[in-house]
Amino acid sequence: MSNFPEGFLWGGATAANQIEGAYDEGGKGLSIQDVMPHGGTAPSTEGPTEDNLKLEAIDFYHRYAEDIALFAEMGFSVFRFSIAWSRIFPRGDEEEPNEEGLKFYDRVIDECEKHGIEPLITLSHYETPLALAREYGGWRDRKLVDFFARYAHTVLERYGARVKYWLTFNEINAILHLPFMAGGIELDRENLADQELYQAIHHELVVSALATKIAHEVNPEIKVGCMAIAVPRYPLTPDPRDVRQAQWESQQDMLFADVHCRGEYPASAKRYFRENGIEIEFAEGDAELLKEHTVDFVSFSYYMSACSTADPDKQVRGEGNIMGGVPNPTLQASEWGWQIDPVGLRVVMNDFWDRWNKPLFVVENGLGARDVLIDGPDGPTVEDDYRIEYMNDHLVQVGEAIADGVECWGYTSWGCIDLVSASKAELSKRYGFIYVDRNDDGTGTLDRYRKKSFDWYAEVIRTNGDSLKA
Ligand code: BG6
Repeated sequence: MSNFPEGFLWGGATAANQIEGAYDEGGKGLSIQDVMPHGGTAPSTEGPTEDNLKLEAIDFYHRYAEDIALFAEMGFSVFRFSIAWSRIFPRGDEEEPNEEGLKFYDRVIDECEKHGIEPLITLSHYETPLALAREYGGWRDRKLVDFFARYAHTVLERYGARVKYWLTFNEINAILHLPFMAGGIELDRENLADQELYQAIHHELVVSALATKIAHEVNPEIKVGCMAIAVPRYPLTPDPRDVRQAQWESQQDMLFADVHCRGEYPASAKRYFRENGIEIEFAEGDAELLKEHTVDFVSFSYYMSACSTADPDKQVRGEGNIMGGVPNPTLQASEWGWQIDPVGLRVVMNDFWDRWNKPLFVVENGLGARDVLIDGPDGPTVEDDYRIEYMNDHLVQVGEAIADGVECWGYTSWGCIDLVSASKAELSKRYGFIYVDRNDDGTGTLDRYRKKSFDWYAEVIRTNGDSLKA
């Protein structure tokens, strides 16, 4: 018997900047991604450069109908994508939206509807309009609250009757490490004062609450979720100081969702602010907004766990996703050094449920790997058994968490179709069930091919998880 409840939403996830391309078509303005040819940590360029794979990405802008039909063939009941803010407000600070940009997402939603797929829309997936970053200093400037509210209002009014599930900021806690990608603040973390960082975070949290308010006013049926990177922090040893360090790192990671869910800053953050001279400026009404417009559900990405230690000599930062941490000696890692820990997913799901008692949605999880295209009986394909194993093992743990009593609405695997990676802006790190013929040097036909995992996932969905192997 499957642990997955009837109506569990199965699907995949993407982000505009990693799939759409057409960076200057349809009246779109530049976003920060258009000047990030080498990914999240590398310096930005003055303007778009030819080596930036995101400018064309996988050309979803022109091929969305074909791609959504492939998702439907796998049986998706949900498709997560983001709206490129700079398609709707090219600079971010205009009074009126760009109708052509709005029409593009009308068409994407039409296509989802045609196939009975629920859209799950992220309002902001590392895509701050470039003008807001360069001319306003990103989320440090309170004016972005008004600009984002206008954008959110525009798209919620436009699509709110047809789209039930919305997320505000993708991986909001990533700003702790990547101020430019996650906050439009063009400084390395080391050069950004804590005061400015936490004020920027406050602006995002406030406008997230405001967007939640707007969404519920537009359509009371809408469910708004927050979205954070989930990284279970394990103490490197049983030394109580390591346990405490793990707890503190986790409190920092969770501060964002704490505010989203409880409507106020947690005590641990208040002490940190007090002791570090951080004074967050609350505008009139901020406290009430946060308190009265908490999220309906908690969504998160899960790729890996990490260890924590209080011993300064052992504090090496391993490879891995944005949050990072000390490598776990008991785990294997992917080719990119991301440690693989299916059980950690059950751990975070239980922790989150116990902590916030809000329904969960796993909106990112998957294995980035170097796939090799081979000739199959039905044409080119990829024998990606490693991906099947990874996903099977993680989904089994989602099922276990559900059996533990956790309420979980759905699962969207990351990069259901190959896309440009966020950390390194490369195409050779592939996550998809669908192979896209495009290479790191930009060559390729952009043709799509079904991998072995395509049929595997279709079967998982068809059986509502029954076909998973414990
Ligand atoms: C998450 C992001 O951090 O992880 C995605 O929300 C990203 O945008 C994904 O693509 C995987 O990371 P990467 O660097 O392998 O693309």
